[in-house]
Amino acid sequence: MVECSQKLEQLPPYIFTRIKALAAEAHRQRLDVIDLGMGNPDLPTPSHVVDRLIDTVRNHPRTHRYPQAKGMPKFRKAVTNYMSRRFDLKLNPDDNVLCLIGSKEGIAHLCQAYLDPGDFALVPVPSYPVHSNGVILAGGRIHYMPLTPENNYLPDYSKIPASVLKRAKIMFLCYPNNPTAAVVDDPNFFKETVKFAQKNDILVVYDNPYCEITFDGYVAPSFLSTPGAEDVALEFHSFSKTYNMAGWRIGWVCGKKSLLAPLEKYKAFVDYGVPTFMQLAAVAALEGPQDCVKEMVATYQRRRNYFVGELNKMGWPVPLPRATMYVWAPLPESWKAKGSLAFAEELVKETGIVVTPGIGFGPEAEGYVRMALVTHDDRFYDAVLRIRKFLRKGKSVKTTKALSK
Ligand SMILES: Cc1ncc(COP(=O)(O)O)c(C=O)c1O
Repeated sequence: MVECSQKLEQLPPYIFTRIKALAAEAHRQRLDVIDLGMGNPDLPTPSHVVDRLIDTVRNHPRTHRYPQAKGMPKFRKAVTNYMSRRFDLKLNPDDNVLCLIGSKEGIAHLCQAYLDPGDFALVPVPSYPVHSNGVILAGGRIHYMPLTPENNYLPDYSKIPASVLKRAKIMFLCYPNNPTAAVVDDPNFFKETVKFAQKNDILVVYDNPYCEITFDGYVAPSFLSTPGAEDVALEFHSFSKTYNMAGWRIGWVCGKKSLLAPLEKYKAFVDYGVPTFMQLAAVAALEGPQDCVKEMVATYQRRRNYFVGELNKMGWPVPLPRATMYVWAPLPESWKAKGSLAFAEELVKETGIVVTPGIGFGPEAEGYVRMALVTHDDRFYDAVLRIRKFLRKGKSVKTTKALSK
C-alpha cells in the first residue's frame, strides 16, 4: 500500500477528531451527551445574515460563479470599515485584506507560504493546534514557548536560544487565548513583541478570533494598533465565533501588502476563495445590527458565571475567564496523577460530558482540561450535577481502560 507522507505521519491524531470519537462512543452507549469539547458555537447565525445568504443564492446567480479569491471589493471594504471603527486602524481595502476560508485555512497556508524545511516557528504551548501542525505540514521546526500561570500566559522571549532565533521566521500569538482564555494585561507586552520581531526579523502571526467575546468590561485590542506592528505582523480574524458562523467557513487576514503577498500567491495555486454569496452574507454580518454580538457575549457570560461558580462551590478551583467561550480548568487534585486524557475519557464514559484534555494543546498543557460554554444554559445545570457526582465518586475510582481508540 502507498504510504502517506512523512510530514503527515509526524502529526499526532487531531485532538478534535479524538474528542469527536469519544462523543460518538458515548452516543453509541446511549449516554445523554453534553458536548463541551470543541469551541463550536451552539447559538445560531443571526437571522439577517442567513436571510442575505438565501436571497443572494436564490436571486443572484452570478454569485454562483468562481469568486474573487482575495475577496470581493465589498467584502474587503466591510473589513477595513470594521477594523477602523473597532480598532481605529486605517487599512486600505485593495492592499491590506485577504478573505480566507476560515482563519484555520489561512494560518495553515501561511506556514506553507513562509516556511522552508528547517526554518523555525515560535509557537506558544498550549496553543490552537494549527499553530503547530501548520508548521509541521510545511516542513518547519517548532520552538515551543510555554504559557503558564506563573508567566501570566505570556511567552518569555529571553528564554529562546540564539540558535533558534537565527532560523526563526514566524511566531504565533493569540489573545484572548485559546485554550487558556488568558488576555494581555501587561501594556508593554505588545511593544516588546514588536521590538523582538524587528530585531530578529520575525513575522508575528496574531490570531484574534475571540476579540469580541470578552467579559466584565474588558475590551480586546488589535496587535496591529501597536506602533511598528504593521511592519512585522499579520492579524487573523474569523466570523466563526463573533457571528456563530463556524460552519460557514469565512474569515480574513489583514496587514501590510508585502506581508500578505506570499499568502495570496500561495492561495492562488490551491483554492478559489470563499463563495461570493458567502462573502456577501459576511458583509451583512459586519455591517448589520450588532445586538446579536452583545447577546452572544451575554449568553456566554451567563453560562460562565453559573458554571464556574458551581465548579468552585463543589471544591474544584477554576478561574473565571475574562474572555473567550472557554473555561481552562486545572485538573481536580484527585486526577492530577492520572492526567487530562484519563480524566476526559473517564468523564465522558461515566457522565456523557465531553471536555478537551489539555494534552491535546501541547505537552505544557497537561494537567488542565478545556470546557467550552457551547451548550444550552439548562444543560449546564445537568452538567454540574453530573460533575459533582463524578468528582465525589472519582476520589475512590481507579483509572479504567481508555475508550476504544
Ligand atoms: C485560536 C483560533 N484560531 C483559529 C480558529 C479557527 O477559526 P476559523 O473557524 O475561522 O477557521 C480557532 C477556532 O477555534 C481558534 O480557536
